[in-house]
Amino acid sequence: MLAAHGVTANYGPLTALSEIDLSFAPGSRVGVFGHNGAGKTTLLKCLVGAVAPSAGRIEYDGAPLTANVSQNVRKGLAFVPQGHNVFPNLSVEQNLTISGLLFDQGFVSRIFEIFPVLAERRAQRAGSLSGGEQQMLALGMALMTQPKWLLLDEPSTGLAPVIIRNVMSRLKNINETMGTGLIMVEQNVPATLKIVDRAVIVKAGRVVFDGTAQELSENKDLWKWF
Ligand SMILES: Nc1ncnc2c1ncn2[C@@H]1O[C@H](COP(=O)(O)OP(=O)(O)O)[C@@H](O)[C@H]1O
Ligand SMILES: [Mg+2]
Repeated sequence: MLAAHGVTANYGPLTALSEIDLSFAPGSRVGVFGHNGAGKTTLLKCLVGAVAPSAGRIEYDGAPLTANVSQNVRKGLAFVPQGHNVFPNLSVEQNLTISGLLFDQGFVSRIFEIFPVLAERRAQRAGSLSGGEQQMLALGMALMTQPKWLLLDEPSTGLAPVIIRNVMSRLKNINETMGTGLIMVEQNVPATLKIVDRAVIVKAGRVVFDGTAQELSENKDLWKWF
């Protein structure tokens, strides 16, 4: 279980999150939605330990989580920040090996099974991949740590619709075959609702909706929140 208990987060005088209470069951698939500036990225950063809450705490498997990303990655939390975070001048394979340095290097072959397009381009410079391929590589890099949780910040941004469907179905497949929990911040609500079970809406640093994806799909009144 990954959980936020009464989490408040500030940037100087600005309060980005207020008293957030959320629990995520292992292996679940959750979409996080809301306007720009609502606090979605800050929520992911608190969960992975990149931002320390000013009040409240993050708990992971019953123990408090300290705000130390490299330690938390080793515990099974992986964060894919917004944008295509790859090393542009390294090859696809080098990007994967570097990300898995502290883990099982042999896992590269598993990543190549999940993303055959990366296998075909293993020697290619990452910077010369298309946007969709770079996003696949960023996902592959996060998976090299064999995480229990994948925290994704707007993975579909900047991708063409057909590529978005491809990325979304890979994510669902990773969840189903590897049991990796997904917490996804997304602007593309319809595409995300197709693959998540639960939807959380954040507004001005607070949770204003927490329900099933079906409930949100069927209740268009709720769409005012984003
Ligand atoms: N590093 C930062 N320093 C100061 N303010 C920040 C920083 N990051 C985010 N904020 C502010 O915190 C609020 C929440 O931001 P964020 O979590 O990025 O929202 P979202 O991801 O929903 O767009 C916004 O008002 C934003 O301007
Ligand atoms: Mg954001």
